[in-house]
Amino acid sequence: MTSDIPDPSRATPEGASDWWRHAVIYQVYPRSFADATGDGVGDLRGITARLPSLAELGVDAVWLSPFYVSPQNDGGYDVADYCDVDPAFGTLDDFAALENVAHDLGLKVIVDLVPNHSSSEHVWFREALASAPGSPERARYLFRDGSGPDGELPPNNWQSVFGGPAWTRVTEPDGTPGQWYLHLFDSSQPDFDWRNPRVREQFRDILRFWLDRGVDGFRVDVAHGMIKVEGLPDYTPPANGGSMGGGAVGLEPDIESGADDPTPPFWAQEGVHEIYRDWRLVLDEYDERILVAEAWVDPPAKLARWVRPDEMHQAFNFAYLATPWSGPELRAVIDTSIAAFGGVDAPSTWVLSNHDVVRHASRLALTAENPQGHGIGPDSPGQPVRELGLARARAATALMLALPGSAYLYQGEELGLPEVIDLPDASRLDPTWFRTNGERYGRDGCRVPIPWEADAPAYGFNATGTSWLPQPDDWAPYARDSQAGVDGSTLELYRAALAARKAHDLGLGSVEWLDGFGEHVVAFRNRGLTVVANTGEDAVDLPAGTVALASGPLDSRSLPADTTVWLTS
Ligand code: NOJ
Repeated sequence: MTSDIPDPSRATPEGASDWWRHAVIYQVYPRSFADATGDGVGDLRGITARLPSLAELGVDAVWLSPFYVSPQNDGGYDVADYCDVDPAFGTLDDFAALENVAHDLGLKVIVDLVPNHSSSEHVWFREALASAPGSPERARYLFRDGSGPDGELPPNNWQSVFGGPAWTRVTEPDGTPGQWYLHLFDSSQPDFDWRNPRVREQFRDILRFWLDRGVDGFRVDVAHGMIKVEGLPDYTPPANGGSMGGGAVGLEPDIESGADDPTPPFWAQEGVHEIYRDWRLVLDEYDERILVAEAWVDPPAKLARWVRPDEMHQAFNFAYLATPWSGPELRAVIDTSIAAFGGVDAPSTWVLSNHDVVRHASRLALTAENPQGHGIGPDSPGQPVRELGLARARAATALMLALPGSAYLYQGEELGLPEVIDLPDASRLDPTWFRTNGERYGRDGCRVPIPWEADAPAYGFNATGTSWLPQPDDWAPYARDSQAGVDGSTLELYRAALAARKAHDLGLGSVEWLDGFGEHVVAFRNRGLTVVANTGEDAVDLPAGTVALASGPLDSRSLPADTTVWLTS
């Protein structure tokens, strides 16, 4: 059967320069990628030195998580100066060098923009604290008087995504207990008031600062949260957990429950779109720069509003990430994604891992519910079996990279890295861990510095052997040099898939569903390639064709469980 899904490539003739419509974008988490200084924290010079390996892997772009001046209370998503590099990561010159090397290698560079909140160490917040209630300095953030007879209670009942109240009370300059400020995340991340024109002006300047330095785009943090309903009304999440109880980065309720829950007064408000239209005008002054929304909004039809022609270019498809390893559910989310994004002439995106979620080599083998952002630790129920997780992860990636549109990879997934479950509690740094008193493990387990060389100190992360999060003792087989050139390794699977994806132009293709393999199989044709993914427990017969790629060993002409194959005819 041929799907009647709109083809996302239709509006883009081949050879057109809309690189982002089909790009594979590799996420670098700077703290954990490569450390040139040897202090245990990754840095820009470390990244630059390793860029050739990413070009050789076959990706089109890198997205760097924040490297700006920051106290690092939330891994750099707490920015104290948007226009400078944190000394822990290097200097602006180091960034320029990174960008030059990347561009010489043919890689685009996307940087992170964190507009919903700043760090409490940002000069604006310091000025706000030093100024009186009602002052223009306070008006850049969301300060409010408390409730209760003496203002001793928070202004409303909102909870922080990381746990605990979303409000913190300040001490006024005269020493008296004072107003409260809103922080949807950690108390060191005060939310800006985006109704204030000075905030808008500041961010236009920040965009230009980085665009003038040649960045190819911005990944926009919390792109669903910048406008709150006037009056900041109370909100009680639905019993299923909803967006405030459910996820470390603010899952919309629908993703988890499928229920038609009311939109919380702090997520997905109509007013955010005006901001992106304004930014788009700025980007359009430059050539081929892009905006990517990190917006936990579901379903895709609603998320598509972020990528209308005059807004952003792409939005992370978290509905896809949240889909279990299940044939019917994968087929459904692929259909709805392509239809929704195609409906506004945007490419669909696909993503399986990032720095906020349990790595998919572990997540796809969890046997108990694990709400997004909670992470897994030694006591978590439903511990994943490593071999099963890796087989499914490889199959899931092979499926994802065969889809039309743009795909995101997270550093280390090309090595098949699992989540680190047994981190010592004393090493954990995610604010989620602290704000829930250890009830949620948080996201450190997917942020452990990645292994490059099996026999080097810190597996080649640096030359000194120190590492801000301890690396497991059994990671040598995952190291890049253990896998390079090894037939059947996860690294070679990624390399081969990326090369074949490019050779067949799959990113600009379309999905034509193939039926008849049983309900657990996802099968389609894209640009003359037949893709078959078996999510079930039993092997299925392979259709005719020559195997171009297989995510695991094949048994003659049958496709084992948890395996994906690409066939040419
Ligand atoms: C989303 C980022 O990906 C996450 O790491 C961060 O904690 C929150 N936004 C808050 O900035």
